[in-house]
Amino acid sequence: KTDPAWLPDQAFRAIGTRRVVVCGGDGPVVRTVVDEVTRACARYGGRVWHGTAGSPDADGADLLLVLTDLDCLPGEAAAVRAEIAPGQPLGKEGYALARPAGATVVVADGPAGLLYGLFHVARLGEAAFDGWRPLEVHRPASARRMLDHWDNIDVHPVMGQVERGYAGGSIFWRAGEPRDLHRVREYGRLLAAIGVNAVAVNNVNVHATEARLLTDRLGDVAAIADVLRPFGIRTHLSVSFASPMVLGGLPTADPLDPRVREWWSSAVADVYATIPDFGGFVVKADSEGQPGPFGYGRTHADGANALAAALSDHGGVVHWRAFVYNHRQDWRDRTTDRARAAYDHFAPLDGQFADNVILQVKYGPIDFQTREPVSPVIAAMPSTSVAVELQVTQEYTGQQRHVCYLGPLWASILRFRPWGPDGRAVASVAGDGGGLVAVSNVGDDPFWTGHPLAQANLYAFGRLAWDPFLDPLDVLDEWISLTFAPCPSVLRSALHEIMDSSWQVYESYTAPLGVGFMVNPGSHYGPGVDGYEYTPWGTYHFADRDGVGVDRTRASGTGYTGQYPAPWRDVYESVASCPDELLLFFHHVPYSHVLRSGLPLIQHIYDTHFDGVTKVVEMRRRWAEIADFVNAARHARVAQLLDEQVRCAQEWRDQINAYFFRKSGIPDARGRHIH
Ligand code: GCU
Repeated sequence: KTDPAWLPDQAFRAIGTRRVVVCGGDGPVVRTVVDEVTRACARYGGRVWHGTAGSPDADGADLLLVLTDLDCLPGEAAAVRAEIAPGQPLGKEGYALARPAGATVVVADGPAGLLYGLFHVARLGEAAFDGWRPLEVHRPASARRMLDHWDNIDVHPVMGQVERGYAGGSIFWRAGEPRDLHRVREYGRLLAAIGVNAVAVNNVNVHATEARLLTDRLGDVAAIADVLRPFGIRTHLSVSFASPMVLGGLPTADPLDPRVREWWSSAVADVYATIPDFGGFVVKADSEGQPGPFGYGRTHADGANALAAALSDHGGVVHWRAFVYNHRQDWRDRTTDRARAAYDHFAPLDGQFADNVILQVKYGPIDFQTREPVSPVIAAMPSTSVAVELQVTQEYTGQQRHVCYLGPLWASILRFRPWGPDGRAVASVAGDGGGLVAVSNVGDDPFWTGHPLAQANLYAFGRLAWDPFLDPLDVLDEWISLTFAPCPSVLRSALHEIMDSSWQVYESYTAPLGVGFMVNPGSHYGPGVDGYEYTPWGTYHFADRDGVGVDRTRASGTGYTGQYPAPWRDVYESVASCPDELLLFFHHVPYSHVLRSGLPLIQHIYDTHFDGVTKVVEMRRRWAEIADFVNAARHARVAQLLDEQVRCAQEWRDQINAYFFRKSGIPDARGRHIH
């Protein structure tokens, strides 16, 4: 049986005990609203009336869910709609919520808005029906809130079925064939409840079988799209840039070759004939061995625009990833800096992309590390739609074996102001442009995400994509309330103690102060301090007997700081003003360098690593204490994973501390044992 995650029956109790009126027409999304309410009422004894026209018996209703373009607008709903400022449309996905008198009213101008309004009422629970509520209008900050699955149809010999997946196999395919999509339906429901409206179903590294999803296996995609559509979700596909060759038999994939352009047009026309609301393509080109326009001497604008041209008549978009760097660099070459690569490739192309191209930029310049500065590409493309890519799957943040609630990390990125305190935030750049995208952490594991507490990350992604200025700890509290409903306060406080700062705790026992990596090559799990130091991957820390860190200054380093607008180009340039948590990302400093805490760098490394393990041991103790309040299977799974987290954190502590002690020869000022 699949874990209900944040939608246990209890989450609908407040709705299910009431008299509900749905005036909502008849599309698939409205049917989802009606089904949800009907199921809740059947379980808890409430009553539901659903109609499309005429005058419903709204008298005595406790909850009205109303689509405003119908002629069955009951008086209360009409009054709520009238209160919304003219010229401030709710949009396709927005809704208004109020409780003017005896009834709670949700009005929306489109079916998706009605669905999101229903889930809002579920989140409020009994509070939605308590007393008077003023009008609240809710609209998503970004029109595109997307999850990318890195799923393969086949099991890849090295990467497994889900690349960087830590939750079992794919929910879409098994043994090379489409699965029963029952779980995909449940997934769609979970995603609708958090406002996600787009899903790309397959890995950005497109292997031979998966390339065929565009052509002879399009039926697989259509079946998924049919299941997700009633939840307001559009389906997207990762495609190979070389498709015209590997699928079409052409001798070239040159984006300016007329045969290639013709091939894309006709392939796309077939896709839309099968899936009329298809979302579009995700493309990883010239990246880590994937084919791309460079092979033909063309730019990434040429490449992206060729696919965009094929999609544009149908309303589709291309998510073109900016993750382009030299993964075969010579580690001896100190002039090449992987952090610079995306900006160097893409900033000169600003203004050259077609309107339906979205440049998909990882939040940091390297690769989803626990701590990175915000990518300078986000501020460098004013004439391009930019989507910010986050990683919900915990590739570098504990692989769903460690508790690591990522809401605070994402909030810090989304609130970052690339042009300084008076400028716009990253969230607003994404909101006006391509929106937010994240790599999903879901698989066929009964808990969806392997670690049951990793569900909170998926939840937080959706909620922050909808409203990036929500407090991530409030979002966590919301998740706790729903998932553990009815949640006793002892459990709530224990979960907060375990999860609130779990990202900072993870950071404290892994790679220090933004230096990144130091992981085992390939798997990216567990400590491997020099694992990448002499490799071609461009991820170095340069530790020697005197100090550690990467000099990315203009004055003496790679010049990366110059990719930021003021004030950050100067804040990061100087050791004195660079935030400590990013110090080793931007500077190579001696072990004796004194941090703002007053501690020398080396002592900070020792202290945080000892401390981090102590905190993980404490997490495990807290979890053991609340066994009586948590479902036994869920409790056991987390307990087992906390054992692994303690083991792995100790390993990190001992390897990092030993490494830096041996390099520096400086003993721990507090005399603790270092191996
Ligand atoms: C990381 C990850 C790869 C993935 C890549 C990407 O490098 O390790 O597995 O393919 O990111 O985002 O494309």
